[in-house]
Amino acid sequence: MPTFNGVETPNGGSPDGPDQSKICPPPRRDSRDLPSLMLPSCYPITLKFMEVGYRVKYGNKNKGSNIKRILGHGPTSSDQIQERTILNEITGLASPGEILAILGPSGSGKSTLLNALAGRIQTNGFTGTILTNNKKPTKQIMKRTGFVTQDDLLYPHLTVRETLVFCSLLRLPKSLSKQEKTTVAESVISELGLTKCENTIIGNSFIRGVSGGERKRVSIAHEMLINPSLLILDEPTSGLDATAAYRLVLTLGSLAQKGKTIVTSMHQPSSRVYQMFDSVLVLSEGRCLYFGKGGEAMAYFESVGYSPSFPMNPADFLLDLANESKDEMTVELDGDGKRVRSGGSITKKTTSCGM
Ligand SMILES: Nc1ncnc2c1ncn2[C@@H]1O[C@H](COP(=O)(O)OP(=O)(O)OP(=O)(O)O)[C@@H](O)[C@H]1O
Ligand SMILES: [Mg+2]
Repeated sequence: MPTFNGVETPNGGSPDGPDQSKICPPPRRDSRDLPSLMLPSCYPITLKFMEVGYRVKYGNKNKGSNIKRILGHGPTSSDQIQERTILNEITGLASPGEILAILGPSGSGKSTLLNALAGRIQTNGFTGTILTNNKKPTKQIMKRTGFVTQDDLLYPHLTVRETLVFCSLLRLPKSLSKQEKTTVAESVISELGLTKCENTIIGNSFIRGVSGGERKRVSIAHEMLINPSLLILDEPTSGLDATAAYRLVLTLGSLAQKGKTIVTSMHQPSSRVYQMFDSVLVLSEGRCLYFGKGGEAMAYFESVGYSPSFPMNPADFLLDLANESKDEMTVELDGDGKRVRSGGSITKKTTSCGM
């Protein structure tokens, strides 16, 4: 069978636009096998996004006027409708078998971009093109897209197993029997290493339940039930220590190896985690600072005059750059156009950077 980036493509088809006939044959209904939903993804999705932009309008006179009156603020000129650019022409690509990491400081637009890529932004302010396998996302593709939100939305009183079996019964097609749906949930539990805590309740800040890492894995398992070909995750490692985060990204890596396309935002990946990313997109205030291979980011920034003043985690360096770039836009440079920052982690040799 021909391959695409190491991923087998169905019927020798191109990953750029598999049609219905090229999707895997219908599942063999043999309950001794794992249900076909759990087989390696055989519908590779290449996600392309071009010049994605998002603007919001705010400052409506009518909205919140009562609250403003209570607070003693009368109508001001700032009540006029204003526009803010949240995303500014972001372009990139995520291929099957790869992890694309979206990095950037808080408020840089990571969640907004992920929501846009998942087709969850459909307002007037959205511009740009998002293509899956070179076509506009179809219903079929949307069904094969999993989205793990930044905040876990789970029932605190249910156990891990109850959560996933219940979800499996609701989300999987009617063509599967109850037993098969339960088997899918069980295999996802084992695939995501949740067997140990399957009978523990989810819990919340008032009721003690599973750990933060396990909770995140339950959220991922929730999306894994539908065996997505494209898995989008918003900060799946927030609140986890470096080791737990590494384990979680290892899980994502193993999912990618099965042919899934993984797009994830991450706040502060360790260097161990960073080296697992195939591609990296760095955002700063809604602008793209870098998109390319994770392993080539440092060399790129060095080539344009930015390098760390001491050996450091590339992710930390990129985040420092993203934060610095906000200041760079307003900083006056020396007459000779050269400036060396001392005391910080970044040394800028020239002004010729394309940022
Ligand atoms: N509908 C909206 N109206 C106004 N501002 C918005 C809207 N959506 C997002 N923003 C603003 O856009 C910016 C980017 O938000 P976003 O949630 O994408 O950031 P983020 O990079 O995910 O941050 P964090 O790391 O804290 O989750 C923020 O400053 C946010 O306040
Ligand atoms: Mg966010």
